[in-house]
Amino acid sequence: MDKIIINGGKSLKGEVEISGAKNAALPILASSLLTEGVCIYTNVPNLQDINSIKLLLEHLGARIETDGDTVQIDTRGANNHEAPYDLVRKMRASVLVLGPMVARLKKAKVSLPGGCAIGARPIDLHLRGLELLGAKINLEHGDVEAVTDGLRGCEINFDLVTVTGTENLMMAAALAEGTTVLRNTAREPEVVALAETLNKMGANILGAGTAVVTIEGVKSLRPVKMEIIPDRIEAGTLMMAAALTGGDVLLTHCEPEHLGAVIDKLKVAGADITIDAQSIRVKGSDVIHSADIQTMPYPGFPTDMQAQFMVLMSVADGSSLIAETIFEKRLVHVSELLRMGADITISGQTAIVMGVDTMSGAPVMASDLRASASLVLAGLVAKGETVVNRVYHLDRGYDALDKKLAGLGADIRREK
Ligand code: UD1
Repeated sequence: MDKIIINGGKSLKGEVEISGAKNAALPILASSLLTEGVCIYTNVPNLQDINSIKLLLEHLGARIETDGDTVQIDTRGANNHEAPYDLVRKMRASVLVLGPMVARLKKAKVSLPGGCAIGARPIDLHLRGLELLGAKINLEHGDVEAVTDGLRGCEINFDLVTVTGTENLMMAAALAEGTTVLRNTAREPEVVALAETLNKMGANILGAGTAVVTIEGVKSLRPVKMEIIPDRIEAGTLMMAAALTGGDVLLTHCEPEHLGAVIDKLKVAGADITIDAQSIRVKGSDVIHSADIQTMPYPGFPTDMQAQFMVLMSVADGSSLIAETIFEKRLVHVSELLRMGADITISGQTAIVMGVDTMSGAPVMASDLRASASLVLAGLVAKGETVVNRVYHLDRGYDALDKKLAGLGADIRREK
């Protein structure tokens, strides 16, 4: 198992290119199942979750070729309707094949997904939505079985905002008969990117990016060629790294518009940020100011940036409150940050962070994807050596983060 070893204290400088977005690529790759033919996607990041969805699609009968960041998916033989536990357990987003399979094959059997250990993360809203669209759902032996004689448009009101739930039902409704209205939908850029992909396939979807999405079902969808949007969480993580180390970093191939809440908080923390069409320059200040955050669905502050922001606040000049409102177990990185000398107290779902002058390197254990990124960031600013174990969590969602940081001057290496 790989580990990452960091010697902290280097100020990051230089230019770094942002990869394609994991959370956009996953639903878009899954949406290929709605078509029969060859879809081509460019700017696909090279990471473990993408390998997982590719393996799953292959198991379902798709043929996949990868050349650098281009992925070609031929769905002409994708007629298997069973997604087994072995393939699904590694990644919660595997559930994204459910909507497309029910819509096109009229039946699907998908194991209940695993993924990050950050709370219960049920999929009840996905299943309720599919039922309203006319699928019969059965839960047995850890599998979801869905069958339908044809999906029909309906009204679905989400009682809370779910990203993959919105995506799954948008995909299912694209091939349903008649009109579907989804209310209280997720407004994430990745949802918009999926809607754009589906519309390019011939779907008729209006309102993606707002809280109400209307889908006029069509009989069939055609294969597409599509570029994956830049990863706003990777960009945000590298922006934190720059601010944290008092660095000067230019991020290229990114989408500043998707990072509003993160940019605002970094400015409050004292970073100097310059935005261009597809680039962001972050200059860290000598003193990091404290700032409170509360995680929220987009366009609020993303839960996927909470752990990284907490590291910044750990060395800020005062105290800050970090409230996690999306996932109930997403403060597990706190115990590892404490081992590195941070001063953090947890009260319910809120962390009270008292900034310290210095953190110190230590062996630490990654527990989930974004938590592992926060430990790498902490290693960049801590005195001495930090060893981050269980790096496979990091590799699930970041395309060579260690190499990108090394390219910016960090003293970081990977060992088997
Ligand atoms: C997606 C992202 C993930 C991000 C999260 C929140 C992908 C592949 N993953 O995850 O990186 O952290 O959004 O921005 O895009 N919930 C239910 N019932 C459901 C579905 C969700 O109760 O049927 C709850 C969840 O437990 C959670 C909240 O809704 O408390 C939001 O979860 P959701 O938006 O669904 O997260 P994901 O789509 O899994």
